[in-house]
Amino acid sequence: MLQKQLEYIRKTTDFVPDTAIVLGSGLGSFADEVEPVAIIDFADLPDFPVSTAPGHKGRFIFGFIGKAKVAIMQGRIHLYEGYSAQQVALPIRILRLLGAKQLILTNAAGGINRDFQIGDLMIIEDHISCLVPSPLRGRNIDSLGVRFPDMSEVYSKRLCRIITECALEKGIKTKKGVYIQLQGPAFETKAEIRMCSVLGTDAVGMSTAIEAQAAKHCGFEVCAISCITNLACGLLDRPITSEEVGETATKTAVKFNTLIKATVERIADEY
Ligand code: HPA
Repeated sequence: MLQKQLEYIRKTTDFVPDTAIVLGSGLGSFADEVEPVAIIDFADLPDFPVSTAPGHKGRFIFGFIGKAKVAIMQGRIHLYEGYSAQQVALPIRILRLLGAKQLILTNAAGGINRDFQIGDLMIIEDHISCLVPSPLRGRNIDSLGVRFPDMSEVYSKRLCRIITECALEKGIKTKKGVYIQLQGPAFETKAEIRMCSVLGTDAVGMSTAIEAQAAKHCGFEVCAISCITNLACGLLDRPITSEEVGETATKTAVKFNTLIKATVERIADEY
């Protein structure tokens, strides 16, 4: 299943990335930081899911940020678009097979923790993924990873430390917390957010836990940052809209891009 897409990419470029970055809703402008070597639209890849979500371009960009060799996914594949968890995992696995070792996941998320404010950046320390299907269901691909992978440290302590240090150096405040993925595409009800709160989670979204699980399985060193684009349902007395999510993500772009760039460069320095 992965071979066809890999062959197509390898016909276009022999670039071997070190760090892969997935850009979430409204966070795609980070791609402007890259000196591109090759760009491949998901739509051109054989049997590849196509991004249909707003604010998701749906392409791989390979290139350099300073001396760091990166592969960017500008736009991702979501479960709520009708794709399976295995399809969601496909680009992550491809990035790994192309040679990337570190993965930075980003997303827009609703803040559940009452200390969070709109526009905060949250370093994900752990997640709850058991309310969405696992990308690891079905026959295990042994060449990628083991049947029963350990998930006690999905998010690398080393990479979390690097992000925290870079944020401090750049004067960017960050929060830390637990991310919960729900299916979407509807935003949650107030009762669902109370449930998430009781479960000890700090932010809710529709994307990242499936990708993180697939990434950990295939040997990526993983980290993730949520942009808190809105407060979760019931925390404010107003409805949530995707426009608000997009607007906050755009407003946060400068500090978000600064933090990701510094992190990518530091990861390259520590090689
Ligand atoms: N819920 C789920 N996903 C989200 C939210 C939210 O409130 N905000 C951005 N993505």
